[in-house]
Amino acid sequence: MQSRRQFICQSTAAIALMPLVACARADAMDYQTAAAKLRADLPKNPDMQEMLRFATLAANGHNSQPWRFSINGSNASIIPDLSRRTPVVDPDDHHLFISLGCAAENLLLAGAAHGRPGELLFLNTDGGRIDIGLGRGKAEKSALYSAIPKRQTTRSIYQGGRISVADLADLEAAGNVEGVSIHIITDDRQREAVLDQVISANTQQMGNPDFVKEMKQWVRFNPDAALAKRDGLFSLSTGGPIAPTFVGRALFSQFWDVDAENKKYAAQIRSSPVVAVFTGDKANKDNWIKVGRSFQRFALQATALGLRHAHINQPIEVTSARQQFASWLGTPGSRPDLVIRLGYAPALPMSLRRPVTDVLIPWEISR
Ligand SMILES: Cc1cc2nc3c(=O)[nH]c(=O)nc-3n(C[C@H](O)[C@H](O)[C@H](O)COP(=O)(O)O)c2cc1C
Repeated sequence: MQSRRQFICQSTAAIALMPLVACARADAMDYQTAAAKLRADLPKNPDMQEMLRFATLAANGHNSQPWRFSINGSNASIIPDLSRRTPVVDPDDHHLFISLGCAAENLLLAGAAHGRPGELLFLNTDGGRIDIGLGRGKAEKSALYSAIPKRQTTRSIYQGGRISVADLADLEAAGNVEGVSIHIITDDRQREAVLDQVISANTQQMGNPDFVKEMKQWVRFNPDAALAKRDGLFSLSTGGPIAPTFVGRALFSQFWDVDAENKKYAAQIRSSPVVAVFTGDKANKDNWIKVGRSFQRFALQATALGLRHAHINQPIEVTSARQQFASWLGTPGSRPDLVIRLGYAPALPMSLRRPVTDVLIPWEISR
């Protein structure tokens, strides 16, 4: 039941929204068109710039798109964009380098699909750089490649049910990257234990005003705001309401209530038949890129199998919770990198990306 305060807040927001409804509808159409255009099929024999569009469709923390790219013939580099760090939730750039690994994997899959199989080299100098060289070979349009434009993070309550043993085997095989382990949880009691740790860590995170402030900066409260920046977390993609930016910002802290969020996580996790935990052998940039590649492949395979996924990373984001989570997993001393839930659900609105031209820098500058 709604509290009196919630009711007053929502009524006030609704009145403030009324004149904007017609305008928001037009924006919503523009939003959908932009999201669909981003995901249009690649042409035959795409050039590197066209393939980079598929690289940018990768999962990435807060949709901050912390990357820049440069191209030289058959070579591309992915360079971290440190101006897009999220220092509160990701103080050591762990998520940032995982995100670069996700983008690199999409580019390699796109190359392989168009007869340009590639190799990746990570150079851990000056902040780090991923170099990818594409060669010539047989075109292999894999199920993972075809899933790139369809994959999305789906933060909704799923439909329950079970995921077959065969599908779980396909997922593990797809995510098999040297140096990365995937721990699959299907047992109800273990899932409840994950939920307890998510709730405990989420309560800590949401009690940190800096975390709330950082999150608010990345929320795009309406289609117009999302279209203007083409980054960040669009309200409707995160299960939130649409509001004018000034209303959303003003009411964010009041609406983003820890009890309500914890209840939402409980319902979401209990509706998800599988939880998967990704752990790299080592906690360094090189391995975080590998974790990103493994996770991206796993998420694409899930998409190909008709499954949705979403992150429940709180136990690995809160430093004090992480060691306890590693011990609970049976790998004390390790650094679990990502926690994902999987299940069946309808799609939510797709997220946006900045155009490749906005993230392309000259080759010489990237050296
Ligand atoms: C390293 C990493 C960490 C992430 N952490 C979270 C998270 O804690 N909560 C969440 O809801 N989504 C998380 N995401 C998902 C991103 O928010 C999502 O990929 C981004 O908004 C783009 O949306 P898309 O995946 O639908 O394309 C994470 C993604 C990555 C790669």
